[in-house]
Amino acid sequence: MYTNQAHQNDRLFPHVDLDAWKQTLAAHGRTPEQLAEHQGDANDSTAISRRNMARCDQQIPLMFRQALAEHPDVVTWARTLVQQAGGRVAPRVEHGPSLLLLGPTGVGKTHQAYGALRWLAPTGVVAPWTAVSAVDLYAALRPRKNNDPEAEFWKLAMAELLFIDDVGAERKPTEFTEEVNFRLVNYRYAHRLPTIFTSNVMPQQLADRVGDRVASRLAGMCTQVVMRGDDRRRKAA
Ligand SMILES: Nc1ncnc2c1ncn2[C@@H]1O[C@H](COP(=O)(O)OP(=O)(O)OP(=O)(O)O)[C@@H](O)[C@H]1O
Ligand SMILES: [Mg+2]
Repeated sequence: MYTNQAHQNDRLFPHVDLDAWKQTLAAHGRTPEQLAEHQGDANDSTAISRRNMARCDQQIPLMFRQALAEHPDVVTWARTLVQQAGGRVAPRVEHGPSLLLLGPTGVGKTHQAYGALRWLAPTGVVAPWTAVSAVDLYAALRPRKNNDPEAEFWKLAMAELLFIDDVGAERKPTEFTEEVNFRLVNYRYAHRLPTIFTSNVMPQQLADRVGDRVASRLAGMCTQVVMRGDDRRRKAA
């Protein structure tokens, strides 16, 4: 619907299915029409928003592509990142608090995390993000042929905005997974790099899962949100 033919294939003004963004835009008091009419500078707020939104549409898994940040503390966290944005050419997420979503299986932690990334998209703040589940992260960092685990590690450690899903989900923590967790959390803590973590535990169990030193840093760097309720997957089934 709200396409702009002239800009459709342009990297700077990518096509976005603005209809699918109606609710998120409404949360910012904006409408799809306002974004569709944009013809301006590549670095203005609307162009940045459209690029952020296109990234979300390409990179968010299908199941969470319409996710909305509904939890008030999640929205407050995202708003803080926007308020603290720096950058010379355009406002950019550089440093800020992290977010830790805790709670049992199926309450909607991953949904809220993607909802937060989608909430950030139309704010006009440059917010490139990388998402990975902890188990995929460990797999990617295991030494194997033609793999440079250190390069992989630093790509993630230094990402501007990082979402690590399901920290501590591995059945048996090993020295390797503990070291990866510690190095990553420690680097992001020390450099105040905003990170979204989810973990399938309640706060009292976190240190048992990830160890005291990681849990302590998470407590220091994160807005902690505990989600409660039923498993939405079972309910839906
Ligand atoms: N607020 C919501 N509105 C609609 N659907 C939701 C919402 N929150 C979660 N869901 C749906 O419920 C299911 C479970 O959500 P999600 O995957 O986010 O749970 P989770 O807490 O991350 O679970 P796990 O700990 O097993 O990873 C998903 O199918 C998701 O799309
Ligand atoms: Mg999840």
